[in-house]
Amino acid sequence: MTQPAIALSPDAQKEIADALNQSVAETVVTTMLAQNFHWNVKGMAFGELHRLFQEIYEDHFQGQDDLAERIRAIDAHAEGMLAGMLDRSKVKEHDGHQSDREMIEILMKAEETIAATLGGLGELAASHGDTLTEDLAIERGRAHEKFAWMLRAHLG
Ligand SMILES: [Fe+2]
Repeated sequence: MTQPAIALSPDAQKEIADALNQSVAETVVTTMLAQNFHWNVKGMAFGELHRLFQEIYEDHFQGQDDLAERIRAIDAHAEGMLAGMLDRSKVKEHDGHQSDREMIEILMKAEETIAATLGGLGELAASHGDTLTEDLAIERGRAHEKFAWMLRAHLG
């Protein structure tokens, strides 16, 4: 077995892996939300929202991979089951029958939720000296806050 890049105690490793798994889960659920809304959005702003939702799910698809691979880098197990992710995620699914405005509000709140989870992960990682996880949490948190802003700006 290879050594992780940093020597975490078993407790710290579990805490950080749990927070990373929650971040992955919320990113996965939001990826699905954005793709669902990309498919089902209607209204005069269809083209713009269709493209924005695609930009979001493409970013998140890469982001969830980076977070899950960080879990493996610290030698913990990455949750890979949808049921487990839905269980861990504070972001919930929606059926895609919402109005365009409701879709924007739901996604904006999802982005804010993930940004908050990643903020907590960054602080937790820093408290254990795991600066590489902290760096990833900051990078991903910034991406989610940017999308939260872009969505919020549509609401006037
Ligand atoms: Fe598409």
